[in-house]
Amino acid sequence: METAIYRLPDPRGEVWLSQAAEILKKGGLVAFPTETVYGLGAAMTHPEAIRRVFTVKRRPNDNPLILHIHEIDQLTVMARTVPLIVYRLAERFWPGPLTMVLPALSTVPAEVTAGLTTVAVRMPDHPIALALLEKTGVPVAAPSANLSGRPSPTTGEDVREDLLGSVEVIIDGGPTGVGLESTVLDLTCDRPRILRPGGVTLEMLAEIFGPGVVEASWRVEADRPAAPGMKYRHYAPQAPMKIFSGSVDRVREAINRCLREDLAKRKRVAVLGFEDSRDLYPGAVFKSLGERENPETAAHRLFMLLRTCDREGIEQIYGELPATKGVGLAVVNRLWKAAGGDVSEL
Ligand code: TXA
Ligand code: MG
Repeated sequence: METAIYRLPDPRGEVWLSQAAEILKKGGLVAFPTETVYGLGAAMTHPEAIRRVFTVKRRPNDNPLILHIHEIDQLTVMARTVPLIVYRLAERFWPGPLTMVLPALSTVPAEVTAGLTTVAVRMPDHPIALALLEKTGVPVAAPSANLSGRPSPTTGEDVREDLLGSVEVIIDGGPTGVGLESTVLDLTCDRPRILRPGGVTLEMLAEIFGPGVVEASWRVEADRPAAPGMKYRHYAPQAPMKIFSGSVDRVREAINRCLREDLAKRKRVAVLGFEDSRDLYPGAVFKSLGERENPETAAHRLFMLLRTCDREGIEQIYGELPATKGVGLAVVNRLWKAAGGDVSEL
């Protein structure tokens, strides 16, 4: 299949967005930028298109998708009930990187919910995504636009790498802002629970719910809601990856010990570390996660750096961890998953 690439902004942007919306309405697949990562969209009204999303991504069938909307009234075509708290959360965080899990109407295709009785929904904060959704007029199911297991795409080039030739359109809107996926918040249990940490942080949610109400852990496994435990590597680079947690000095020492062994075997090694560690890993390719106190930079760069490691033929990756404050929780979660749970607590 020939994939059309639309690079926006462009004077033809309006026309291209209308064309992309038409393709979605007819049951085609369109990859588009959001403020978190790129999504691979199919209209909710086309279950066969949604099945194709799973095929194209090689995604396990039991992993449900998020519906994307541009106005809150669209909740009425997917949610059986909308608790009042949803409106408060929407007012504060939508459009934005918060996905809410709500009781689903039985009319939502099982292809979206993977057969669950709940449905996930969010309103992305990106002008291209919002314009595309508005022109399409129906909710759009969209997982991240990567091959399953690979780091999520944060640039149009990442999407082309994974999906060129297997989708109708890729809209390239440049690098995404947040850099990792939305926070998934389950509102169907007694206590609100973060199933996947993201750009809307636990601290931000505590401002609405009060302190200590929302459950969260960086070890959460949202990708297979029914199956607890870490079974798969997600967001993973090709090279094996190991992360270290503990005091800054111990982490540096431990990474250098591993590094020396690898270098003796002539391996190409990368270290994902904070700026203050830049010169402390001789022999490794240093990939900067930015300033240690600023996990937003780490979030913005993480997936991009993992994909760069693949492109550069890196054979082993070591990673430092940020503190779990703010979006740091989400960064730790993604690093942990990318490493397949291989974390040394020092
Ligand atoms: O930022 C994002 O959320 C991006 C952009 C494209 O919007 N999308 C994204 O989709 O990350 P995906 O498919 O890669 O991740 C969706 C997550 C998965 O962890 C899935 O298990 C969870 O949402 N999810 C979806 N529906 C659910 C449900 N009904 N109950 C629990 N978890 C659900
Ligand atoms: Mg994904």
